[in-house]
Amino acid sequence: MKGKLAIVTAAASGMGRAGCVLFAEQGATVAVVDIDAARTQAVVDEITAAGGKAKGFVADLSKAEECTRVIDEAAAWLGGLDVLWAHAGTPGPSQYEGMDMGEYDFALDLNLTSAVACSAAAGPHIRKRGGGAILFTSSVGGLVGSMMSPVYSMAKFGIVGLTMSLAQRYAPDGIRVNAVCPGPVETAMLPHFFGRKGDEDKMEENRKRLMAVVPLGRTAQPVEIAHAAMWLLSDDASYVTGVALPVDGGYVCR
Ligand SMILES: NC(=O)c1ccc[n+]([C@@H]2O[C@H](COP(=O)([O-])OP(=O)(O)OC[C@H]3O[C@@H](n4cnc5c(N)ncnc54)[C@H](O)[C@@H]3O)[C@@H](O)[C@H]2O)c1
Repeated sequence: MKGKLAIVTAAASGMGRAGCVLFAEQGATVAVVDIDAARTQAVVDEITAAGGKAKGFVADLSKAEECTRVIDEAAAWLGGLDVLWAHAGTPGPSQYEGMDMGEYDFALDLNLTSAVACSAAAGPHIRKRGGGAILFTSSVGGLVGSMMSPVYSMAKFGIVGLTMSLAQRYAPDGIRVNAVCPGPVETAMLPHFFGRKGDEDKMEENRKRLMAVVPLGRTAQPVEIAHAAMWLLSDDASYVTGVALPVDGGYVCR
């Protein structure tokens, strides 16, 4: 990552935060993008205190025009763009029958529209540098169906389709496009998968049920996903494009 100009979205917490810190440690200059201004600044402060280079950018990534604005602003500050990790997403509605359509729209906006808008805005900047890489965050739910989160799974399958399509579209520009598909990761988001609205009392039971089907028998730490993300974005993965890589303790291989 040495010398790379990087943007990470949904970067103030969890895997995005771990990615920013790791990429900066490895020599990248990082634009940290999130809706939460205070936590974004905390990530920037952590990186700069360790001698790295970073700046925070606040945006609501559920809005396409905000995605375009923030990618352009961040690329202008960086002086170009080599790599984008478009990481934003949300678990979506837990109910299926009688679901709240506002929650449904928000799930599609943050999981899918933001990936489309951020990558479309990033393309011209990366092309100008003569190539680079884009990484999306899908999920194991983007590779196999999810009984508990059907709308989330549908959206994350969409990310895999976008990855495979843009890999072909951007290959002539030297831009590789991949997706990382995490299993359960210890972040602020994880409890939302186990205990949705009206289902909070089943949280422990759901967690145990999931752990029973993860061959490695544990959740991941955010940095374990960040390492995979860094590899996919780095020149070490120079012949890897169009891939949806499970980083899931073996969840999808059962
Ligand atoms: N945690 C898991 O188990 C897991 C598993 C598979 C995939 N994922 C995916 O990982 C991504 C989330 O990452 P995490 O688990 O590190 O979560 P997290 O909760 O730690 O971080 C999510 C970040 O997104 C930011 N955010 C929320 N709404 C936003 C908006 N409208 N605009 C900009 N930023 C916004 C939050 O402020 C927060 O910093 C999502 O794409 C999610 O679908 C998570």
